[in-house]
Amino acid sequence: MKYKVGVCQFEPKLFDIDYNLTRMKKLLEPVNADLIVLPELVASGYLFKNKEELKKMSESPEDGHTAKLFKKLAKEKNTSYIVGFAEKADEKFFNSAMLVNPNGNIFIYRKIQLFFEEKKWFEPGDTGFKIFKAKGGIRVGLMICFDWIFPECARTLALKGAQIIAHPSNLVLPWCQQAMITRSIENRVFSITANRTGTEINADKELTFTGMSQIINPKGEMIKRLNEVEESVYIAEIDPEEANDKKATVYNDVLADRRTEMYEL
Ligand code: ACM
Repeated sequence: MKYKVGVCQFEPKLFDIDYNLTRMKKLLEPVNADLIVLPELVASGYLFKNKEELKKMSESPEDGHTAKLFKKLAKEKNTSYIVGFAEKADEKFFNSAMLVNPNGNIFIYRKIQLFFEEKKWFEPGDTGFKIFKAKGGIRVGLMICFDWIFPECARTLALKGAQIIAHPSNLVLPWCQQAMITRSIENRVFSITANRTGTEINADKELTFTGMSQIINPKGEMIKRLNEVEESVYIAEIDPEEANDKKATVYNDVLADRRTEMYEL
């Protein structure tokens, strides 16, 4: 089965929702694909210094500005999008990602492994790891940024049947892109890590994001890695069914051969 997947890398401006939505629209409108992954917290930016700032930037998953833009794009472009956003749920805030399908359906994942000061503003995600159907019935598992350092996240998604792991990110540490190659190999899944670029400064805080968004196949081969600074959308044609074969050799199945009785967890 031929399936076009994409990764969109750009530099959101902190707290400039209008600019960020317009920039994504401009990058995505000319591009045709079945599924595109974007970074974490795309409309708000990342570097909050208190909960009040997050409160102002957070939005509803049904009719917030991110949902509105991507529902419209998904219908017009006949594309599924996975995109990170600051979710407001009553008086709680989650670092979330939505899968938006061309028929307008939206599915939400709330980041489980919060990074650094995120623990001060966001609630730890409570959705668990679920598999959602994207355009064409492709099985997609969502995880966000720092979830990468816990192999259980990708493993759970693979055990539940993910063919593609969609991984919106705002990466600042240097290890994730290499680690996601391993996540793909050990689970024999496609992984699409969409990272942002640029530097954010807020009061006495400063963070630089590492770019290098990438698409990895179930053998751990790099289909594409963008550079550290470019703003672009890269599209690759894949066969998601390659992820159904879990055999590393004829004798070794990376899921079926797990000896859980020996792990003593
Ligand atoms: C991260 O989890 N945004 C580093």
